[in-house]
Amino acid sequence: MEWKTRLTEMFGIKYPIIQGAFGGFGTSKIAAPVSEAGGLGIITAGALNTPEELRKDIRRARSITDKPIGVNLSVGFCPRIDEMREVAIEEGVSVVETAAYKATDHGKRLKEAGVKWIHKVATVKHAIIAEQQGADAVVIVGTEGVGFKSPDQLPTLTSITWAAKQIEIPIIAAGGIGDARSFLAALAMGAEGVYMGTAFMATKECPISEHHKRYLVETRPDDHRLIRKILTPPDPKQLEKVMKERGRISHDEWMAKLEMVLLKEDPEKAKSLEPEEVLKLAPASLAVSAIDRIVTVRELIDSIIKGAEKILKSGIFSNIRGTQTSNDL
Ligand SMILES: Cc1cc2nc3c(=O)[nH]c(=O)nc-3n(C[C@H](O)[C@H](O)[C@H](O)COP(=O)(O)O)c2cc1C
Repeated sequence: MEWKTRLTEMFGIKYPIIQGAFGGFGTSKIAAPVSEAGGLGIITAGALNTPEELRKDIRRARSITDKPIGVNLSVGFCPRIDEMREVAIEEGVSVVETAAYKATDHGKRLKEAGVKWIHKVATVKHAIIAEQQGADAVVIVGTEGVGFKSPDQLPTLTSITWAAKQIEIPIIAAGGIGDARSFLAALAMGAEGVYMGTAFMATKECPISEHHKRYLVETRPDDHRLIRKILTPPDPKQLEKVMKERGRISHDEWMAKLEMVLLKEDPEKAKSLEPEEVLKLAPASLAVSAIDRIVTVRELIDSIIKGAEKILKSGIFSNIRGTQTSNDL
């Protein structure tokens, strides 16, 4: 079956599956295998630290796959972000994803250079603004996902279905997605692709520790610590306090404090985070519900696609009619 959406056509990829950005370890080691297996792999510029290293990593990815690769620029967190953006343009990257904060100027420059611009947001309100500012596609992360939490954020189901009524550009669903059912559900809600972070961390290629991968397999989505971490919005009082500090302390210190509040950590502990520390603050999302073993990137993508095809072939409403669909999807 052909998995054609506006996204697969816009990005020139086989399946509408995108690998999420990872501060600290989102390099070609994970991005290249995802692209090679038919999805869109994303290299996180901030994980490479310098524009020179980003250039090398894009070239490394190109030596592994000739399929399209994207680059993530996380505004406020990616060092030397303008230079990183120019490296992505010079290296002929066809898709750049911006995230975290407003990225209008980056988007404008990318579009002038003929690069497709995806912007990632946590709320439908910001998705609408991204569309108005000219984004080619928007990733909306629901509360089930890892990342910065907004007090206005909604669960994936509500975010995507509500956004689909208001947005014309292709929507990419994120937050808690990791298997055939959640993939198909996202498309049914109106998304034209999915974006997965946690599920891609549970792959053989992902450069994180075996200990962390074991955590992903063993942790249940109803683990209370995970629920607290993922589903609780940031404290509005702490958020207000940090917002008032903007301009009064150095920008870097302010960003670090804001990051801590959004991750629901003590802002006074703010400091520049080492990769392992980032992992401890954002270890996984509710997508752990889909993870029961560590597989290769290709096995993960194939299982999602084959599982989705099996569901569609068996009749999407077979469960309603009383015919059981199998549980191994
Ligand atoms: C350890 C970790 C680090 C992340 N770092 C970044 C980052 O630097 N920039 C960014 O835009 N998103 C980052 N994300 C968010 C993911 O790209 C993605 O939006 C999220 O994982 C989607 O939710 P899911 O995990 O339920 O699939 C990170 C996620 C994790 C788990």
